[in-house]
Amino acid sequence: MSNTTKRVFSFLLCLALFLSLSAAPATFTKPVRLRAASRPPARGQHGMVSSVSEIASQVGVDVLKRGGNAIDAAVAVGLALAVVWPSAGNLGGGGFMVIRLANGKATAIDYREMGPAAAHRNVYLDSKGEYIKESSTYGHKAAGVPGTVAGLSYALEKYGKLKWADVAEPSRKLAAEGFPVWHQLERSLKGASNGLSRYPETKRIFLRNGKPYEAGEIFKQPELAAVFARMIKEGPGEFYHGKTAQLIEAAMRRAANGGKPWMTVEDLKNYKPVEREPLRTTYRGHEIITMPPPSSGGVALIEMLNILERYDLKALGAGSSQEAHLKVEAMRRAFADRAEFLGDPDFVKVPVAGLTSRGYADKVAATIDPQRASTSEAVGHGDPAAYMSLKESEETTHFTVVDKDGNVVSNTYTLNDSYGNKITVEGAGFLLNNEMDDFAPQPGKPNFYGLIQGEANAVAARKRPLSSMTPTIVLKEGKLWFAVGSPGGPTIINTVLQVLINVIDHGMDIQRAIDWPRIHHQWMPDQITYEPYGLSPDVLNRLKEMGHKFVDRPRNMGDAEGIMIEDKTGVRLGGRDPRLDGHSVGY
Ligand code: DON
Repeated sequence: MSNTTKRVFSFLLCLALFLSLSAAPATFTKPVRLRAASRPPARGQHGMVSSVSEIASQVGVDVLKRGGNAIDAAVAVGLALAVVWPSAGNLGGGGFMVIRLANGKATAIDYREMGPAAAHRNVYLDSKGEYIKESSTYGHKAAGVPGTVAGLSYALEKYGKLKWADVAEPSRKLAAEGFPVWHQLERSLKGASNGLSRYPETKRIFLRNGKPYEAGEIFKQPELAAVFARMIKEGPGEFYHGKTAQLIEAAMRRAANGGKPWMTVEDLKNYKPVEREPLRTTYRGHEIITMPPPSSGGVALIEMLNILERYDLKALGAGSSQEAHLKVEAMRRAFADRAEFLGDPDFVKVPVAGLTSRGYADKVAATIDPQRASTSEAVGHGDPAAYMSLKESEETTHFTVVDKDGNVVSNTYTLNDSYGNKITVEGAGFLLNNEMDDFAPQPGKPNFYGLIQGEANAVAARKRPLSSMTPTIVLKEGKLWFAVGSPGGPTIINTVLQVLINVIDHGMDIQRAIDWPRIHHQWMPDQITYEPYGLSPDVLNRLKEMGHKFVDRPRNMGDAEGIMIEDKTGVRLGGRDPRLDGHSVGY
């Protein structure tokens, strides 16, 4: 750069800074500029991976550079997270993948866990019909039949270009040779030490027998490496009918103490991922592609978008009390419907078309008073006296991948709670999920996340528990614009909603939209959850004046990982959530 160019450049920089500062009057005419600054998104000319882990994102980018497409890379990232982020990354859990190919075809792969043959409606209830404490959250009976290996291998086989061995080898290596523990992993392992200490094998592997890993130390998982080695040699089916399946059944037999094992090789052999039509809608003219049941996420997201589309959120301003009020009222109503109607569509009739129709949204929106909070008792069903407060955990994980051709994968998967049911399969080194708690263990009473759910989501053999995971893709003029998803239990749906509104209504880039403070309401309990420093005192007070109730203490929500295509250049912009220090890696 010549000196003159440098001078012109710095003058323009100063001018831009001056204009941006002077364009921030107290009248909220430029709301986007009023709140905290964000880092710029990560940039990649060809491809991008956003995930909670730098190591996993790098594994994905390496696959892209080797000629793999977004699906190959996503499968590699999913497998790598099972090694490097064991609180949520998994072989023993399940999830959902929404794919849009560059040719316009979109699809959704449901690899949600299923109830084992031994599951039935009252399995978590005692003889008086009361919930048996922790029965659906800890221990063997909390686990559903895992779907991750079946789902990822299905996606690879149908939509990928590479072989299973090619995408699984990096994870085998990471498990065998180890990787340096990073700060968030150290924090997560130490934070979960009570639960992880309940079971000796889990304590041995994940807490090094009571001497937890410090950041920078190398974490090796030889038993897990052996599972990968077997799956590489024999194919992913090994997990469902080979030695790994037998190890799962053996762990179940030991726990059953001579009784009937909760999950058997037969259950594993019967597991099937399901490819489903994704849900689609438009929001202010932009096409939204998202996950259908057995996730409630897509249905609730669409219902909320349909309700909110009638209000000029842009004019109200990001972060304004009026915008927050309308979002909360939409959330309240969508979650009341979730409680009543949603469940596994292979078992119950879910009125998806009605819930996602604009006519229905008109009817629902007519009950919203723009100046006054509704009460949840008046809005829906349930048992408000019995609700539990929300639990703090962010232990599902989402990743997004875009390749050079514009194929995109938006994937959320989980063990449910942090480190699932806390049980490590002896000899296999991986944790099992506690997804059975996503059913209504006692219909009408709150589950771990305080969600009240009905008979539509009652426990049954071979049924999939209702989820809130909401992997989503947004198009502009028919072309990929951005994709995003998040962990956070029920807060997932509202996190995705708010990222979408931040981009579409408020014009934020993907990084700022993710960074922006979030709020959450789930009908019951009737309270707004908000993030530390997320609402200014005057906004909080105004909302209280309108009749809204708040949690006692704010807490962070979600870990959204997204990618956006830059308008003029086509550059892939990575948005990574600062809440868990996510990483976007591009090339
Ligand atoms: O599928 C669901 O909705 C839950 N199992 C997700 C759990 C989750 O996001 C955990 N993080 N808080």
